[in-house]
Amino acid sequence: MSTAKKANGRVTIPDIAARKGGEPVVSLTAYTYPMARILDPHVDFLLVGDSMGVVIYGMETTHGVTLEMAIAHGASVVRGTDHACVIVDMPFGTYQESPEQAFRNAARVITETGCAGIKIEGGEEMAETVRFLVDRGIPVMGHVGLKPQSVNMSGGYRSQGHDEVGAKKIMADAKAISDAGAFAIVIEAVIEKLARDITEAIPTVTIGIGGSPACDGQVLVTEDAIGMFADFTPKFVKRFAEVGDQIGNAAADYAAQVKDRSFPAPEHCYGKK
Ligand code: KIV
Repeated sequence: MSTAKKANGRVTIPDIAARKGGEPVVSLTAYTYPMARILDPHVDFLLVGDSMGVVIYGMETTHGVTLEMAIAHGASVVRGTDHACVIVDMPFGTYQESPEQAFRNAARVITETGCAGIKIEGGEEMAETVRFLVDRGIPVMGHVGLKPQSVNMSGGYRSQGHDEVGAKKIMADAKAISDAGAFAIVIEAVIEKLARDITEAIPTVTIGIGGSPACDGQVLVTEDAIGMFADFTPKFVKRFAEVGDQIGNAAADYAAQVKDRSFPAPEHCYGKK
């Protein structure tokens, strides 16, 4: 296990913030209690990402995820963990309006799930909100580069930072969120040089997803990494297992045994020897 195991409790936000330039921070997404139980010993933090909309609800984008969904899934992931720090993604429309709206909804997420912090997407335009939340006791993880909640503005899920203007903007975004007090920043789908430059330029821990090994840590959508979501696989995903195939094979075996009556066997029946 490559994680910071705490002797007497969970990994904390300060533990993660202190990993700048040190042992890489390990993270995966989780949306449910059973998945959280399985992943908990192996990660520093679990992200209850709004990717849940696409991955487990079959939505086309993350826009349909509501605060109530984030809270219900966040609470189940917190219940399934005793080691990992749990961070919950703020859904689209629950924080962009004003710092006050962001505080009201983030406070609900924290109090109703028991999670340690929240994540919001955005750069310079969200810096005031990040500062407002941090000053009021809400740890914030930022998210720059490819921002799935802004897909209608960017026109698709494309890697970022290829041109100088775009790269400068993402660097400015990361600096603004770092200066505003975020404890970590997700950098999604940017060219390796930019991820490296940002990681070197800011004192805040960077978490890459398609951001290269230069980042201070990595996160992946678990279902992508274990072969349980094959609708679309971004370039930055490595499949560490083919669990989807295993589930399919198990279901086929079950169906065959029900049909030939070899299941249930005597040992699965009550009152039979
Ligand atoms: O929603 C999510 O899962 C995320 C990760 C891709 C970082 O934001």
